[in-house]
Amino acid sequence: MRTIILTPDQIHMGSLILVNRSHSCPELPRETEPLREMELLREMEPFREAHPPMEGMSSIRLLRRAAVLFAGLMDEIGGWEQIVPVSGYRSLEEQTSIWEDSLVKNGRAFTEAYVAFPGHSEHQTGLAIDLAVKSDSIDFLCPDFPDSGICRTFSKRAPEYGFIRRYPAGKESVTGIGHEPWHFRYVGTPHGEIMEQEGLTLEEYLLFLRDFPYGKRSFSFAKGKRQISVSWKKADKNGTTQVSVSNRLPYAVSGDNMDGFIITEWRD
Ligand code: DAL
Ligand code: ZN
Repeated sequence: MRTIILTPDQIHMGSLILVNRSHSCPELPRETEPLREMELLREMEPFREAHPPMEGMSSIRLLRRAAVLFAGLMDEIGGWEQIVPVSGYRSLEEQTSIWEDSLVKNGRAFTEAYVAFPGHSEHQTGLAIDLAVKSDSIDFLCPDFPDSGICRTFSKRAPEYGFIRRYPAGKESVTGIGHEPWHFRYVGTPHGEIMEQEGLTLEEYLLFLRDFPYGKRSFSFAKGKRQISVSWKKADKNGTTQVSVSNRLPYAVSGDNMDGFIITEWRD
């Protein structure tokens, strides 16, 4: 085993950070910027060239790890012909202008249901992507992503690749956002599959994991021949937090953007 040291900044980093009306998108310190490297989805180029005036489609970027898994899923299901990424990473300025435009065009009730308050959008993390079924006219705020055909296949396979449908129907009071079948959030594996299996939103999953305190007990998930343990550790109030992980087996740590860390450990 070896000890890893987690700094307070790291509470606000990683695939499982919660960003919603109550928890703002972290502004990462300058020295950690390489973690936020964005990847252009090159496969989109031919479509964008064919549809140059499409509003909001000038650049679709995700954090590298999310972009790689997204492309892997699209390759696997043959999605590139019919599924169009509509919106990925947004700066605070972009989210602000989307919010303000929508207030004018659509009114407050619609805007609050379908646009996250500036500073509180998952799109600002580089971990979220909106998708549409390919068509000549795509609604930028509420793209059509039906629960049928290739879109249904994408939604069904997404958890295997670490993506979740972030704003499901029936959970509006939990997420604070209306049903958005087009909005997918990268949370990493095996978290997407666990959330799907347990029927939990990200808000609910992070609450659920608090019942699995690191070092005491963990949630166990079987993936193929591997057993994966997930647990949560509250950040130490004063300074750094330490966890012990295997020298030999993979592990991942993500902050929750609240007050702790999710520790994921692959077992023999
Ligand atoms: N449409 C989602 C909620 C956003 O604006 O981030
Ligand atoms: Zn979205």
